[in-house]
Amino acid sequence: MRVSAGGLNFADFMTSKGGYPGTPPAPLIAGREFAGIEESSRRRVMGYAQWGAFAEKTAVYSNMLWPAPDGWSDEQAAAFPVNFFTAYLGYWQAGMTHPAPAGRTYRVLIHAVAGGVGTAAVQIGRLLGVETYGTSSSDEKLARVKELGLKHSINYKRHEYEEVVKNLTRGEGVDAVFEMLGGEHTARSLRCLRDFGKVIQYGTATGQSPKIDLRAMYAKSASVQGLWLTYLSQKPEIMEPAWKQLSEWIDHGKLTPQIGHVFPLERAMDAYKMMEAGKNYGKIVLKVG
Ligand SMILES: NC(=O)c1ccc[n+]([C@@H]2O[C@H](COP(=O)([O-])OP(=O)(O)OC[C@H]3O[C@@H](n4cnc5c(N)ncnc54)[C@H](OP(=O)(O)O)[C@@H]3O)[C@@H](O)[C@H]2O)c1
Repeated sequence: MRVSAGGLNFADFMTSKGGYPGTPPAPLIAGREFAGIEESSRRRVMGYAQWGAFAEKTAVYSNMLWPAPDGWSDEQAAAFPVNFFTAYLGYWQAGMTHPAPAGRTYRVLIHAVAGGVGTAAVQIGRLLGVETYGTSSSDEKLARVKELGLKHSINYKRHEYEEVVKNLTRGEGVDAVFEMLGGEHTARSLRCLRDFGKVIQYGTATGQSPKIDLRAMYAKSASVQGLWLTYLSQKPEIMEPAWKQLSEWIDHGKLTPQIGHVFPLERAMDAYKMMEAGKNYGKIVLKVG
């Protein structure tokens, strides 16, 4: 594959600090996803790899390669695999890819809603008819996500998200929380849940191990469930139906990867620093070649 752009993920930043599970010893070419040209067929593709995507040429398993949608730029295609599969599988694990029972609307609280996975989750949530609640540190970022269909914005610098969720849902809570912060946030997210709700734990951006509030779990028969795309991506029986649904939405023009920032590969360090500082909106993309 000849690579034209690579999507930067929080996992790449964690890898650079030596904190990502399964990182091979240095020297290592980073990069988990990309867009480019498949040399054998000359078709435009987007692909998912664990390492090696930030290079002029890379190789991936054929089942981790999808056609780049017509009308999408290379940057958009490079921003698709990790964010959209992760967000879709979050809904799938939460049981929300099937319609809610009559008279019910599913609710989800999305942390880092203005980030890569967050902006994908808002778009997918809108298509699934889920009521979305999202947190961010910035009103400006929240205003942009609102345009994508976010229903309830919560600036956690100014408001306590547990309180806001409680008030907005008349004390009922949400059906799921997409939780990628770790530490106290796992316990606090558990306290945001409705009966039988699930915290989908898919990251620990704070660097702290998730803390559990057992009392909140008992109180509502709630649970915490892990999600790791690296693992799920090895299961065709899960990835193929996910792609079927995602590609259907793409064909109907219903998904748009949000590109916040594009850096040339030579400035990768600035891109990593922006990710570390949490200043990005949507995806940070590295332009290769
Ligand atoms: N399990 C999986 O398979 C999987 C797959 C993809 C991503 N992830 C995880 O999902 C999370 C989001 O990944 P992403 O690539 O989409 O990143 P991102 O959301 O684009 O960027 C991270 C965002 O998190 C927020 N944040 C809150 N606390 C932070 C902290 N202590 N340090 C840095 N950022 C912080 C910031 O937004 P605000 O300031 O607006 O809150 C920041 O913009 C990461 O934890 C990542 O490891 C997991």
